[in-house]
Amino acid sequence: MSLKEKTIGFIGCGNMGSAMISGIIDSGVISKENILASVKTKESANKKQKELGILVLTDNKEVAEKADVLFLAVKPQFLDSVLAEISERLDNKKLIVSIAAGRTLDYFKEKIGKDKKVIRGMPNTPAMVKEGMMGICVNENVTDLECQEIKELCLGFSKTELVQENLMDVVTAVSGSSPAYVFMFIEAMADAAVSGGMPRKQAYEFAAQAVLGSAKMVLETKKHPGELKDMVCSPAGTTIEAVRVLEEKGLRSAVIEAMEKCLEISKKM
Ligand SMILES: NC(=O)c1ccc[n+]([C@@H]2O[C@H](COP(=O)([O-])OP(=O)(O)OC[C@H]3O[C@@H](n4cnc5c(N)ncnc54)[C@H](OP(=O)(O)O)[C@@H]3O)[C@@H](O)[C@H]2O)c1
Repeated sequence: MSLKEKTIGFIGCGNMGSAMISGIIDSGVISKENILASVKTKESANKKQKELGILVLTDNKEVAEKADVLFLAVKPQFLDSVLAEISERLDNKKLIVSIAAGRTLDYFKEKIGKDKKVIRGMPNTPAMVKEGMMGICVNENVTDLECQEIKELCLGFSKTELVQENLMDVVTAVSGSSPAYVFMFIEAMADAAVSGGMPRKQAYEFAAQAVLGSAKMVLETKKHPGELKDMVCSPAGTTIEAVRVLEEKGLRSAVIEAMEKCLEISKKM
């Protein structure tokens, strides 16, 4: 069966589930008719059905039964009960993709059996604007072709990279949580711009676009970030002075230590 013919199911359709579904629909890889979801409350089901234009139920079993690719997008604390509810509807042909933070491949082996095809993913909130970055790791039952299919399916909301499972905590720190650090950086730059006299709305526009453009330069030129930094720093100029202050105040070390903390907490989840 080709990817286009498959039925995609989502259990959980909140911030992350909705962003993923919207991206998949907009990419045209799968038609709306082939996507269905389930949520907890009837009220939420009606709202999401209207918003996304797909069938949204409150029956997890039906979604699990019908899906060829089943995304589990509920909060980690609800996963035990959801899996208990749907386990009899799962077989070894379905591709099960969990995005629950901290739930390992071994956890799924224990809950639903070692013969199932399980992918563990860590998306991030830029998926909401189709610029996500997602790390995935897979168990031994998932084929290379199925991995490719998931990458293709998710392309509408995210880039996807396959990593070893021991790197999933690093993925959490470097892309799952990092939008929060970047928002803080944008906010701080905008504060300084306001302090320099720029209206706040305009300050966010300047700061955010500068971050977007800089990220694009790293991705598109493939140059070392240090080289790109050096290109902005003219001799005896303004930028090198700003860089000197950032080094003096420990920006680099603050980022590294913050991410080490994130990693430490993620490992304990
Ligand atoms: N947000 C992030 O930045 C981020 C990043 C990476 C991974 N994740 C992971 O993504 C997952 C979802 O997070 P989120 O931020 O999208 O959560 P959310 O906005 O709170 O959405 C949770 C969804 O799950 C539904 N739900 C709750 N209990 C359910 C049940 N028993 N059966 C079926 N549906 C149920 C909720 O339905 P109702 O609306 O009816 O309650 C809602 O649609 C989590 O596991 C999280 O670890 C999130």
